[in-house]
Formats: sequence, structure tokens, C-alpha cells
Amino acid sequence: MRIPRPGLRGKLALSIALVLLAALGITYLAVYRGTASELENRTESDLERETERIALQLGGGGPDSPVGYTARAQAITAAENFGPSARVISISIEDGGTATNQPDLLRPRPDDHGGEPHGDHDDEDFQHEIDERREDSERILEAEPGFTTIDIEDAGDVKLLTSQIQLPDGTEATIRVGQPLAPVDNALEGLSDIFWIVGIFTLLLGVLAGWLLASSVARPMRRMAAVAEGVDAGELSTRMPVDGTRDEVRRLAESFNGMLDRLEGAFERQRAFVADASHDLRTPLTVVRGQIEVLARNPDPNPDEVRRVAGLVSQATARMEAMVEDLLLLARSESSEGLRLEPEELGPLLAGEVDGMDFDDERQIRVGDATSRPVRIDRDQISRAVSNLISNAVHHTSSGGLIEVSAVDRGPFVSIIVDDDGPGVPEADRDRIFDRFARLDQARTSTDGGSGLGLAIVKAIAEAHGGGVRCEDSPLGGARFVIDLRA
Ligand SMILES: Nc1ncnc2c1ncn2[C@@H]1O[C@H](COP(=O)(O)OP(=O)(O)OP(=O)(O)O)[C@@H](O)[C@H]1O
Ligand SMILES: [Mg+2]
Repeated sequence: MRIPRPGLRGKLALSIALVLLAALGITYLAVYRGTASELENRTESDLERETERIALQLGGGGPDSPVGYTARAQAITAAENFGPSARVISISIEDGGTATNQPDLLRPRPDDHGGEPHGDHDDEDFQHEIDERREDSERILEAEPGFTTIDIEDAGDVKLLTSQIQLPDGTEATIRVGQPLAPVDNALEGLSDIFWIVGIFTLLLGVLAGWLLASSVARPMRRMAAVAEGVDAGELSTRMPVDGTRDEVRRLAESFNGMLDRLEGAFERQRAFVADASHDLRTPLTVVRGQIEVLARNPDPNPDEVRRVAGLVSQATARMEAMVEDLLLLARSESSEGLRLEPEELGPLLAGEVDGMDFDDERQIRVGDATSRPVRIDRDQISRAVSNLISNAVHHTSSGGLIEVSAVDRGPFVSIIVDDDGPGVPEADRDRIFDRFARLDQARTSTDGGSGLGLAIVKAIAEAHGGGVRCEDSPLGGARFVIDLRA
């Protein structure tokens, strides 16, 4: 049979119960033992004091004969009653008699009964009682000097102090003082009872508190588990409730929700990316298909028509090729794995990009200041990013426009800056243009303009290098793009 494992609530309640039980047990033992030995000490010192008092009284009247001492002893014992909470006293005088406050106990005599007529049965009971008392009396009278505990028929356990003293004239006397332990036992029993009651109550309260505490911790956990199951089933929009929960649980809920936000955002971006990519690929595909269908419908197309269709098809195919290449590049640039980082000086790299740029001679492109501080970069990737920025600048400047590329040392960063004197980018769009497929100018459709991946690639490359890219106003009047690279 499989035993079900206790949940969080059960475990917490059980641990609290065990800890409480151990604490109560230890406290009980300590208090019980302490009280017992304290009460025992007190009883013993009471008995010692009583013995001293009796000894003083016995010898106080000066030397006397054994008979005289016995009379004194009888006077002393007569003043003391023996009962469940009082003492038993017996004083034996050498060569004299024994005085006691409990003659029935210490000098059992059958005729004490008064000689009244008894039935056989009564006689038997009476004899039995006498036997027991004789045994009690023997135990008291024969006890060793010092403290002993004996069991007496009517009084239960009795603590007995037996002391031998010498009276002023050298006569020996034996003083026995006994104290019934019933009150001590009762007190200890009372203590025990209180402990039981308090213990059970505390234990129940502790278990209940543990259960409630664990429930309040487990409740948000269960809610979290339910949300996590929902996420597992594809439901990304639910969130953990955050208000009113405990600090730790709140932090967990917040980071859980944060993780869901990021996850949802990533899924949403991924979805948009796939939608945009398929849309942008479908446009040239539609062109290709439409043109080929036109051609197919004509049983005898003239060569000019064939040439026109071939031109359109190859243009559309080139667009698709370029886009697929950009998508692959983007996917590759997004991870820093596979970067071949080498310390490079940026001046020659920028000059190479400007020289290799294919543009009409009416635009001025120049390399401005270039720091000689080397930076660890993947040369191919950074060249690609810079050429994307230059090509954008070329697209957004009219003939006679000015473009300047520079590299500036800025402490922890070395920045590559591309300025142009074109129309610039409106402030509200300066973040958005780095998104994939983001194109600002409505006039430039995907058939005649770019696909909107260029800046996304620049951003991915900059971030893979541990840096970033941003768009600002250029002192030339147009747009300024800055790639910050960790120096
Ligand atoms: N130098 C610039 N001046 C003004 N606007 C710019 C400049 N560079 C980019 N933009 C705006 O940012 C948008 C996104 O640029 P991005 O390079 O990502 O795409 P694209 O150039 O349209 O296409 P692709 O680069 O993929 O061929 C551009 O469509 C344009 O609207
Ligand atoms: Mg571009």
C-alpha cells in the first residue's frame, strides 16, 4: 500500500507539534523534578528542625531519671496530633519507656479495643488490623538512623528521621519524627495535572496555528501552480494576484508575473515576426505567380512580353533572396555565440565601408574623427552594421546631401556615429524603427523600399557585442545613429 505523503500543511503542523511536544516534555521534567526535590528538601529540614526542638525540650529541664525523661517525652508527644498532614513522633528513652503521639500505631495492644464483645468476623478484621499496625510499628522503631521513607497503612508514604541524642546526664534517647508525604504527592500530582491540561491545549493550539499558517502559505502556491498549469496549456495572459500576500510570496508572484510578461512579449514578437515575414515574402511571390500565369495564358507570347515577365520575376526573386538572407543574418546576429572577436581599429574599417559604398557622385560621404583606440569586435558583423546605417543615410538624403561617419572614444565605450543631413527620424519613432519590419515612410512599400530589417540587424549585432544602438538628432540636421561598443 502506498502511504500518501503529507502536504505542506501536514508537514508544518506535524513539525510544530513535535517541537512543542519536545519543549513541553523538557519543561515538564525540569519543573517536576525541581519541585519534587525542593519539596523533599523542605520536608527534610522541617523534620530536622522538629527533632532539634524535641531534643531541646527533652533536655531543657536539666538531668533527670529515665522515668522523669519518659514523663517529659509523654508531655511533648501528647501536644502533637498525628494525622494525614501532621507528624508522627516517638521518643524512646534508654532504660525508660517510649512515648508517642500515636499509641495505636506504635504500641498495638489487643485490649485497646475496649473488651467489647465481637463476632468472629470482627475479630478477624481486628486481628488483621493489629498485624498491620505491628508491622508499621516495627518498621518505624527499627528504622536506621537518618532519613528513610516507609509506607504506613493509614498515612501512606511517610518520611522518617531517626536520630540518637544524648541527654544532659548522658542518657541516650532516640527521637523519631515522621512526616506523611501525601501533601507533597498531592502537590506534584496537581502539577502533573496542570501540565497535562496546559500541554494538550498548547499542543492543539500549536497544531492549529501551524495548519492555518501553512494553509495561508499553500494557498498562493496552489494558485501559482494553477497559473503555471494554464501557461503550460498555452494560456499566457493570466497573472498571479499580487495584493495582500506575504512578502516572500509577493516577490515570487511578482517575478512569476514578470517572467510571464516577458514570455508573452516574446511570443507576441515571434508571432508578429512570422506574420510580417510571410506577408513580405508573399508580395514578391504573388508578383512571380501573377506574371507567370499571364505568360502561360498566352499560347504564343512575343519575345518582348517574355523579357518583361522575366525581368519582373528576377526582380521579385532577388528581393526574396535578399530578405531571406537578411532574416538568416538577423537570426545569427541575435546570439553572441560564433562571434569572432578581435581587437580592431575602427578608422580603417569605416574608411573601407565608405569606399565600398555604391552611390551617385552627387552625395558627399566622408570619414570624420576616428579614434585609434582598438575595440574587440567581429569585423564582418560590425562592417555589415555600418554599411546598413550608411545605406539608410544614402536612401534618406537627396543628391548633394552630406553623410559623415566617425568613431569617438567615450570612456567605457567607443561609439560609431553615422550622421546625415536628411529629414531625420521623428522623436516618437526613434525606438520603433529598430523593430523588425518597421518602416516609417508609408510611400516606400515593400515592393520599392527595403524590408525594414536593416536596423533590426544593426541592433542585434550591437547587442551581441554587449553594446547598443540609438537614434538622435544630427548636428548636420538629419538623423544620427550611434552604435556604442564596449571598449
Ligand atoms: N537615416 C535615416 N533617416 C531617416 N529615416 C531613417 C533613416 N534610417 C532609417 N530610417 C527609417 O527607419 C526605417 C527602418 O530602417 P531599416 O533599415 O530597418 O529598414 P529599411 O531601410 O526600410 O529596409 P532594409 O534596411 O531592410 O532594406 C526606415 O524605413 C526609415 O523609415
Ligand atoms: Mg535599411
